[in-house]
Amino acid sequence: MKLATRTTRITPSPTLQLSATVKALMAQGKKVFDFTAGEPSCDSPDEAKAAAINAIQAGFTKYTAVTGIDELKDAIIEKFKRDQGLAYSRSQIVVSCGAKHTLFNLALALFEAGDEVIIPTPYWVSYPEQLLVADATPVFLPTSEAKNFAIDLSALKAIITERTKAIILNSPCNPTGSMYDRETLEGIAKLAIQHNLLVISDEIYEKMVYDGHQHHSIATVNPDMVQHTVIVNGVSKTYSMTGWRIGYAAGPEPILKAMGNIQSQSTSNPTSIAQKAAVGALQGGSAFIENMVKELDIRRHALVEGLNHIPGVHCPMPAGAFYAFPNVSALLGRRFGGKTLSTPFDLANFFLTEASVACVPGEPFGTNSHLRFSYTGPLTVIEEGLRQLNRAIARLE
Ligand SMILES: Cc1ncc(COP(=O)(O)O)c(C=O)c1O
Repeated sequence: MKLATRTTRITPSPTLQLSATVKALMAQGKKVFDFTAGEPSCDSPDEAKAAAINAIQAGFTKYTAVTGIDELKDAIIEKFKRDQGLAYSRSQIVVSCGAKHTLFNLALALFEAGDEVIIPTPYWVSYPEQLLVADATPVFLPTSEAKNFAIDLSALKAIITERTKAIILNSPCNPTGSMYDRETLEGIAKLAIQHNLLVISDEIYEKMVYDGHQHHSIATVNPDMVQHTVIVNGVSKTYSMTGWRIGYAAGPEPILKAMGNIQSQSTSNPTSIAQKAAVGALQGGSAFIENMVKELDIRRHALVEGLNHIPGVHCPMPAGAFYAFPNVSALLGRRFGGKTLSTPFDLANFFLTEASVACVPGEPFGTNSHLRFSYTGPLTVIEEGLRQLNRAIARLE
């Protein structure tokens, strides 16, 4: 049977594949220092668990409204009002099975062959792949580590064509941890309005910010921007609820309506119980966030400072999210066991086999000079993993 062409355009998520490899090695009894996780290590908030248990016991286990129950939509509307001063109505919200699903619905609702969508690099692995499923063309906007991965507005302007339909922003960013300041967002907003572009603003890491940095949503920087923005968010990262699969979008009603129609013919509603859990988290989880971010900050310092003590590794301090993104170009070209380690992929493989350290190579994020290390694991894993890395690197020729 010949498979559809779209299956040949995309690759499976490399981060999920790597996490599966690590889990398989651990299941075989191998010790692995795992820095691949895209999720906090702590449990979900008690408020979420209690709401889910109540939902099960109350028999709230049937189909719900396709785009989410009113109670959850209202909690999301309240969150936008509280955190960003944005006013949405229920018809402007769609709840889906994780933010990845939200983004996928959005890609199918908006894009088709011939459409160009701008993605700043480095980027989260799924953005280009989802656009390819929707037959659209990703157009990459390179950013540089020297400028803290900031968007250069003249470079952005230069790649806008009459086919450009949208820009995908992710602040704080997976994988770099960098954030866009208000001035940059104002500049992007101006271009978006001028060229009638939509901004897809993935704000899934909005609460994981450190050192007094402030998260700004592009929808708030200019009164006209609400009409040009779809905000994507979810409970996965903020409330350590990756397994519950609840993401959501807010934006102009016609776009959200189309996303809901697509969802009605694919997954239907997200799990009823998980929706109730998300209400519990959104309404009662603020202390949970504060504690988690405090702990993540300690781990961020331990990992980034440790990486910067390794010869050949340079790691900027990330402002947000929970990833360190060290530049390892000084290690590329070194040799081990008669083989040259030419790429981040080679180096990550060497770390896994020789140091039992699992991290994600930069290639699927659009860079040939970096590795991504998540700092969500326990401090003991971070500290021992760093020792293992030092030992392995000392063995390179
Ligand atoms: C930038 C970004 N957006 C969206 C997601 C999807 O999150 P979920 O589908 O778990 O809500 C992730 C998960 O890794 C992410 O890193």
